[in-house]
Amino acid sequence: MDYKIDVLTGIRATGDLTVANYLGAVKPIVELQEQGLHPFVFVADLHAITDKEPTEVKPYIHAVVADYLALGIDPQKTTIYIQSDIAGEVLTLSAFLARLISVAELLRVPTLKDKLKKNARPETANTLLLFYPVMMAADILINRTRNVAVGEDQLPHIEVTRELARRFNKRYGEIFPMPQALTVKALRILSLKGEGKMSKTNPDGAIFLTDDATTVARKIKAAETAFEGVMNEKLESHILIAKGLAKTLSEREEVDAIIEAHKRGKPVMGQFKQLLTRIVQNFIEEFQTKRAEITRDPSYITSILKEGAKVARENASETLGEVRRVLQFN
Ligand code: TRP
Repeated sequence: MDYKIDVLTGIRATGDLTVANYLGAVKPIVELQEQGLHPFVFVADLHAITDKEPTEVKPYIHAVVADYLALGIDPQKTTIYIQSDIAGEVLTLSAFLARLISVAELLRVPTLKDKLKKNARPETANTLLLFYPVMMAADILINRTRNVAVGEDQLPHIEVTRELARRFNKRYGEIFPMPQALTVKALRILSLKGEGKMSKTNPDGAIFLTDDATTVARKIKAAETAFEGVMNEKLESHILIAKGLAKTLSEREEVDAIIEAHKRGKPVMGQFKQLLTRIVQNFIEEFQTKRAEITRDPSYITSILKEGAKVARENASETLGEVRRVLQFN
């Protein structure tokens, strides 16, 4: 069975994106799109309600699409759709797939095991959490995609997907081409200060795409750097941000020049912070201007999503039709 699409990715993000979300999840898709692949990007709203109220998720759906468009996802080159627009197809395939995996196997999926260790218990965790990888497999297999762009944390779900495809094909014939993980190289974007990765849960160490210029300047001013001549993880992360957001080659060269001077023991961290601030402010300003343009006419996004739903539904019902045929369940 042939692949239908080049690359698929699901967005679970709800709420304001950070520069780390952009660099880790959005920019790689923009790059694939510019390389001439035709990515399919969908908002995984059914996955998002695993741990959120549907009313909480709903307002973010169009917002995150606006963000992605303003960040360079081009609806002429990328298909964008909402998962729940093909809920019937996805959930039907999920049911056919769920028959092929045991509860015990799902309980052993590392992402679920981690969750159950940290902040959920089997006695109270809702069943959608257990079902999560099955529904993700349905998203992937229904599209018959060659590649799935995911962060490393999602690799166990790709393994479940591949195993389900194998089991289905073995029993019912070659329906699903084997999807592959296209792991987005994990950029280590750290919190500007304090411990850990940049994340919404530590807003002072995170730069949001909604931050204004003054907030950006204040956060970068308070960021931790490194002593003259020393490289550390924080500084490496600041460099990734600067080079990842810089619009021009000359800005990237400016970054390199300052870092070279720093390595030679020169006191240039103040200068580096000024440059980083300027780069981030310019990036965010351009993003916010584009986003305002995009959202000025609400029917713009609606029509993109309508078109996306149509394409996704065609793909999905074709796959599901074949699945039903081999299952003799139609
Ligand atoms: N689980 C993914 C995440 O949290 C989102 C997702 C849902 C997804 N379905 C998908 C990603 C299918 C890729 C393909 O990031």
